[in-house]
Amino acid sequence: MIESSSPAKAILFGEHAVLYGKPAIAVSLDRRMTIRVVRSERYSVDRRPLSIRRNRYVKWALENLYDGPPLAVTTSSSIPSASGLGSSAALSCSVAAAIGQIGGGISNESCASDAFDIEYNVQGRASPTDTSASTHGGGILVSFKEEDERLWSLSKGDRTWHVHNLPIPPMTLVVGFTRKPSVTPIQVEKVANFYNKSRFARETIEEIGDLVWDAVKALKGRDLVRVGELMDRNNSLLTILGVNSRELQKLKDAAAPHSYGAKLTGAGGGGSMIALTDRPEEVAGSIERRGGVPFIVSISEKGVSASGRIDHDGH
Ligand code: PMV
Repeated sequence: MIESSSPAKAILFGEHAVLYGKPAIAVSLDRRMTIRVVRSERYSVDRRPLSIRRNRYVKWALENLYDGPPLAVTTSSSIPSASGLGSSAALSCSVAAAIGQIGGGISNESCASDAFDIEYNVQGRASPTDTSASTHGGGILVSFKEEDERLWSLSKGDRTWHVHNLPIPPMTLVVGFTRKPSVTPIQVEKVANFYNKSRFARETIEEIGDLVWDAVKALKGRDLVRVGELMDRNNSLLTILGVNSRELQKLKDAAAPHSYGAKLTGAGGGGSMIALTDRPEEVAGSIERRGGVPFIVSISEKGVSASGRIDHDGH
């Protein structure tokens, strides 16, 4: 049997703008997607036949990255799905790592590349932020120019993203899930329409880009007060881009009195917000009272892992 596991992620800064040549910062969280893979008579996921409707990520991966006898995949996850915490990225990484492990193991760079291919082909327009965060663990900076501590570079079409290690100071985040799914392609398209017709939108994206570089400095300087301020500002700019929602803002407002800062994370519309705080219980309580689902999380330094092997006789 092969087992592989990858962490959830949160985008700390720069979502959406990262699709327009701007940098983004993501961290991986201490919640994981684990999969187990064995040989079988026929393909299955969680004991049901592999389905294009239910298993788009696994199906694409098996059809395009794997060549061998049928596999049975079982998943177990502590990452709420469609919440903006990267459950599909973690699944993509775990599947990429498991397929790599069948062939004797792969590097993190190959895993990040395969996992990005899976997400990109299933979701359409996507940056490698989520899958690289989930692969590497800790913190990453994704940018269009090469910086210190480069891990790998990934290209699609005429775009190349450079992914860097970014040390993150010890911090506690509280995630507030709105209970409403976040549908990434819809939000991405909404921003694209606005971007194409409005100079204001393009300037807002520019401003997010500048803010992310300020955030890199604040994180390197371990200045959580400044990191919080920048989170608030990033949230306002995302609101201008149209991806905030009443539910998200309600949870941000609930977290604000006990936090350094808070913002929506990921594509927005629904999904989750994150608050940076040293009073996590109070923030979690406020989020719950306003109808959200809180998760107290910390940064996971552990990225993707894979172990085991599949023998020829199927074990
Ligand atoms: O919805 P999520 O958590 O996968 O985040 C999407 C972030 C975007 O910048 C909007 C898209 C991307 O692929 O970077």
